[in-house]
Amino acid sequence: MALLVTNIGELTTNVERDGDATGTVRDAAILVEGTRIAWVGERADAPAGDIPTVDAAGRAVLPGFVDSHTHLVFGGDRADEFEARMTGVPYAAGGIRRTVAATRAASDEELRARLSRLVAELRAQGTTTVEIKTGYGLTVHDETRLARLAAEVTDEVTFLGAHVVPAEYADRREDYLDLVTGPMLDAVRPHARWVDVFCERGAFTADESRRILAAGAAHGLRPRVHGNQLGPGEGVRLAVASGAASVDHCTFLDDDDVAALAGSDTVATLLPGVEFSTRQPYPDARRLLDAGVTVALASDCNPGSSFTSSMPLMVALAVREMGMTPAEAVWAATAGGARALRRTDIGRIAPGARADLVLLDAPTRVHLAYRPGVPLVAQAWKDGAALL
Ligand code: NIG
Ligand code: FE
Repeated sequence: MALLVTNIGELTTNVERDGDATGTVRDAAILVEGTRIAWVGERADAPAGDIPTVDAAGRAVLPGFVDSHTHLVFGGDRADEFEARMTGVPYAAGGIRRTVAATRAASDEELRARLSRLVAELRAQGTTTVEIKTGYGLTVHDETRLARLAAEVTDEVTFLGAHVVPAEYADRREDYLDLVTGPMLDAVRPHARWVDVFCERGAFTADESRRILAAGAAHGLRPRVHGNQLGPGEGVRLAVASGAASVDHCTFLDDDDVAALAGSDTVATLLPGVEFSTRQPYPDARRLLDAGVTVALASDCNPGSSFTSSMPLMVALAVREMGMTPAEAVWAATAGGARALRRTDIGRIAPGARADLVLLDAPTRVHLAYRPGVPLVAQAWKDGAALL
């Protein structure tokens, strides 16, 4: 099935042209054939013929958002913690254990129903690829269940058995590490592509994290890391040394961290929904970009530190609070996410890429930051199929 999207006022391709990373084309058109993009160019040169056509009416089109960091399979609610934070109580990793208890108590049907509501919610906001982590089960049975449910909605599943040490292992840390790197990994591995660890005070040390990532890698899972979220630490340098595809959060960085990232192909994934929801300082995206680091933006959608699925909100926060230009923020939320997932078939609009597109109800991508909180996604296509 072919589709011509034409009369596009501003097309963000992310195919670099003349030093412009966004590869912007004005008065553009796109031809989709089946699930892939067949042709991209100026409208005047578009293929002719009897092709079903969408008239973008001068509005902006960009690649579908790539949300490379979420925790969407969970039970329960932690609005009370958010409310307490807004009166000055700090965020603490220990809240994760509350969601673990609620998730273990939820049936597959309950978890699946919540997950599919969240997936519908993020699609309506233009996200066409989403990564989903386990990490609220923390038993062999529950982590496997979470990975299986996540795999029903995405190919990008991450094993995060090393989210925190669960309460029942509080006095037996080593036993929990043996479980995560042994039977739990064996059981989850068939459903997952990535292994992640929360390398932070209150969660896992750098040595423990190294061991977990190495065990995952030995089983074919590629590493990614939660690091430097709550304070300075070894997470970023550990991620770079482990060849992680991304290190996520990057809120508290020193010059060595920035230099390590700049000399690597590990993506720094920034999650401004967390700083918004925890009243922490935002990460300094400008410093990273100026050092030559590849930056991605993601939602970190989870019930504790960032309960939003909105990539347009991440773009707006990155522009307003983190020193990014609108073009840099949109690139980071699309091509940056694709880099963080080591994908070349998404995050750009070019022949051969997946037909994952967003049509904004706005003339330019700048409106994503200029009109925060306004639902601007008029249509989205994933693999050539309309989502809305
Ligand atoms: O990415 N940092 C660790 N994990 C999540 C928070 C999870 C929670 O508080 O439930 C995060 O922010
Ligand atoms: Fe996270």
